Amino acid sequence: MGSQKKSKLTISEILNKKKNKEKITMLTSYDYSISRICNETDLDMVLIGDSAATVMLGYDSTRKIGMNEMLTFCKGVVNAITRPIIVADMPFGSYQMGTSISIRNALKFLRCGCDAVKLEGGLEVVDIVKKLTSLGIPVMGHIGLKPQTTPLHHGYTSQGKTAEDAIKLISEAEALEEAGVFSIVLEKVTSEVASVITQNVNVPTIGIGCGPYVDGQVLVIHDMLGLYKEIEPKFVKRYLNLSDQIFDAIKAYENEVKSGKFPQEEHMYHMTEEELARLEKMLKRV
Ligand code: KIV
Repeated sequence: MGSQKKSKLTISEILNKKKNKEKITMLTSYDYSISRICNETDLDMVLIGDSAATVMLGYDSTRKIGMNEMLTFCKGVVNAITRPIIVADMPFGSYQMGTSISIRNALKFLRCGCDAVKLEGGLEVVDIVKKLTSLGIPVMGHIGLKPQTTPLHHGYTSQGKTAEDAIKLISEAEALEEAGVFSIVLEKVTSEVASVITQNVNVPTIGIGCGPYVDGQVLVIHDMLGLYKEIEPKFVKRYLNLSDQIFDAIKAYENEVKSGKFPQEEHMYHMTEEELARLEKMLKRV
């Protein structure tokens, strides 16, 4: 792993990547140990996604995670990350109850050490986004499939399949740009519409399940590492089969403990011979 200290990225460097046609890379991360590895790479952004609800807490929906749980995950990540931009997902319910509650919740993420917040929604969140960005809080938008709400109405289907849906998504992206977002996640949007949106807005689009014609990509790290196998979306590429490797390691440990192969001499600590002799004498006396 690389060890040279690289300086913290800025939001303007992320914006410049679009201008320079450099692809932006983002992955989710939820804890200190994985984030340390992310920090050693050249990833541009790390997202503390509310997908933590499913992959870290075993909830059946991202709607079930709250502010306190999200902030706990953020603490681990910010303690490890020095270079990539850290984006925290505002959980369901944290930005739907009025401007002042939304501002207070967004500030909690910034005070915790995150660099930006992400909100799911189009026109319905534009006013909140405008307020947050006017206060200097960097905001990432998220349209297309919005896991906090879309499944309630339409399941997990891909978005932007009709011309009417496409127009709606394009205008949502434009409204978010107008409201001051520094980038927009497009989730499970048809590649044709993702491409049009990417050409229509000046801020970078970060796709998940949208194909290649966007400014950057994001994946849930558990999916690309093969650590969460409950669902296997078509758009995920598995770079590892970590759950199989972890399973094999745990089985090997179990077998070695049972057979006495672990621990060995190199895993032990010893008393000096003198101390051992003194102990034996003491034990005899007792
Ligand atoms: O919560 C999350 O992980 C996300 C990504 C899928 C973009 O929002």
